[in-house]
Amino acid sequence: MPEGRERTPSEPGSTLSDATRETTRENRRTWDTWSDSYQRKHGGMLGGSQAEAWGLWRRPEHELRVLDPVAGKDVLELGCGAAHWSASLAGRGARVVGLDISGAQLRHACHRERVALVLADAQALPFADGSFDLVLSDNGAMSWADPYLTVPEVARVLRPGGQLAFCANSPFFAMCWDSRQRTLTPGLRRGYFDLHTSRVAPTAVDYVLGYGEWLRLFRSCALVVEALIEEPPPPGAATSFGDRPQEWTSRWPVEAIWSARRM
Ligand SMILES: C[S@@+](CC[C@H](N)C(=O)[O-])C[C@H]1O[C@@H](n2cnc3c(N)ncnc32)[C@H](O)[C@@H]1O
Repeated sequence: MPEGRERTPSEPGSTLSDATRETTRENRRTWDTWSDSYQRKHGGMLGGSQAEAWGLWRRPEHELRVLDPVAGKDVLELGCGAAHWSASLAGRGARVVGLDISGAQLRHACHRERVALVLADAQALPFADGSFDLVLSDNGAMSWADPYLTVPEVARVLRPGGQLAFCANSPFFAMCWDSRQRTLTPGLRRGYFDLHTSRVAPTAVDYVLGYGEWLRLFRSCALVVEALIEEPPPPGAATSFGDRPQEWTSRWPVEAIWSARRM
């Protein structure tokens, strides 16, 4: 790991509210519980030749070209899970840190070469200001942690000119997700103006903001949006995430890829 990364002196997480701490604990326990079955079910699709690909339909990075060149850059993957992205970027010459809050998830990453793994909360990053050139998250902690905490932390640890790139659920997903049936419905089930947290499973909460609110938050943290990519899955594309029916995803964006630059 490059020098000067350690954050001093505050204890990570010490500034979180009690409610955020409780939700974060709940999500960590849930990911610890889900980890082995998640890796069994989705690991094949997330790794190998699809390691550098975005979202549930694994849109290849070499087609979308979201990322700056990574060779020689300091990269942080937020919510890295088994660290497929991290390992692939390290193979292209980046110095990579994979961070996750779940020890069980990181155990699936511990055989990776050239990736420094950190067990920590994305809402209180244990790194010095200006440590990274790129922060990325592919349905990782930018989805599973509170953006009002993660976005300021990302802006703090990015160097000027650095890039934040992430794929997360869209507001349409959050408004149309039926958490009891665990599927997407064609009708709106909740309002746009009360997005933020969504209970996506009985023991798990994820986070989505409306478009204007994402833009306001980025701007308040000196991040300028360069791209917002919303595309339907390619015709006939397969995913191991079967609870996103094609009749729905061909009509509305289920996820979005954002790229923003630190001023
Ligand atoms: C859907 S998985 C994605 C992981 C990886 N991108 C993949 O596709 O395998 C979400 C990850 O975010 C992690 N996560 C959840 N909350 C987090 C937090 N507050 N800080 C860091 N990681 C978190 C979970 O432990 C989990 O590994």
